[in-house]
Amino acid sequence: MRLKDKVAVITGAGAGIGRETALVFAREGASVVVADRNGVAAQETADLITQEGGKAIALTIDVAKGEEVKRMLEATVEAYGKVNVLFNNAGTVAQGRVEDNTEEDWDEQIATTLKSVFLGCKYAVPLMREQGGGVIINMASVAGMMGITNRAIYSAAKGGVIGLTRAVALDHAKEGVRVVYISPATIETPSLKQRIESSPDPIVARKAFEDRQPVGRIGKPQDVAYAALYLASDESAFITGSGLVVDGGMAV
Ligand SMILES: NC(=O)c1ccc[n+]([C@@H]2O[C@H](COP(=O)([O-])OP(=O)(O)OC[C@H]3O[C@@H](n4cnc5c(N)ncnc54)[C@H](O)[C@@H]3O)[C@@H](O)[C@H]2O)c1
Repeated sequence: MRLKDKVAVITGAGAGIGRETALVFAREGASVVVADRNGVAAQETADLITQEGGKAIALTIDVAKGEEVKRMLEATVEAYGKVNVLFNNAGTVAQGRVEDNTEEDWDEQIATTLKSVFLGCKYAVPLMREQGGGVIINMASVAGMMGITNRAIYSAAKGGVIGLTRAVALDHAKEGVRVVYISPATIETPSLKQRIESSPDPIVARKAFEDRQPVGRIGKPQDVAYAALYLASDESAFITGSGLVVDGGMAV
């Protein structure tokens, strides 16, 4: 088991990539804290894990609120005694060009997708330093690495995640705290399915998403979960400040 005796906190683990990663981490021996602002969905993920014989608890938290992120980490230490891995995965996708987006759209996107990562790092670093180390995985996107149409604010937030990851990694490299990011391309999650199904022509919309990746398919949540597993495990002990691009070749 690659995460035996580790404790992992995963935000946005009530659905999509976060849920899949929670299941994979638990199968590899981690005790998992499933955090999501949708408490029912978080509990469902935790139940799926315990039904398989794994260990998990669910927490209802909004990652855009500092007090709640702090509480999430305190509750983890209370339940399992430590925090080895924090996966700052939760995020939302604001669509549109700058002229379409409002100031409120900007504030909300930055809060859920970039400030949340700042808060996770801010409160996890001291705990990890005190216990002798840990890993923080931040969810970026190919949108933070290359231009993508109709995703102006989202791209800014994800580019910010990559910059923040590099800086925090350097600040804490000597303390045993590794900070890394994952940049996926299009992944088949409930939110993506909903976007495809609500488009004027779902078949055309799906094909357009498939064609964006040189490998010719949309990614699966497992594709990202296994990248996260490697980064969370001791196998990646010499990696910090950089990331894994899980994109079927899109950013190449
Ligand atoms: N799906 C993709 O194609 C794709 C591609 C690149 C990056 N990503 C990133 O991966 C992450 C997960 O995406 P997904 O597609 O699995 O999303 P999803 O919408 O399927 O699931 C996201 C989960 O996060 C939770 N969440 C949202 N805002 C929250 C908040 N403020 N506090 C706590 N929980 C919150 C939601 O309740 C939901 O359960 C996001 O950061 C996203 O930007 C996704």
